[in-house]
Amino acid sequence: MRAIVDGARCTGHARCKASAPEVFALDNLGCALPGEHAVAAGAEAAARRGASACPEGAITLE
Ligand code: F3S
Repeated sequence: MRAIVDGARCTGHARCKASAPEVFALDNLGCALPGEHAVAAGAEAAARRGASACPEGAITLE
């Protein structure tokens, strides 16, 4: 699984990291690191939680 963060949509709610700190990291402005991130085996449920928590719909999973 990959988590894809759309940096153009992220506005820094930080709910992704709060819900799934093992998957999502924030930059020094509090926005999720943009781009594609590999989701480690066993962290898929957390990735889904984090993606669902984003009110901007900035995270997609593949
Ligand atoms: Fe950004 Fe959404 Fe996370 S707005 S910091 S991707 S909760």
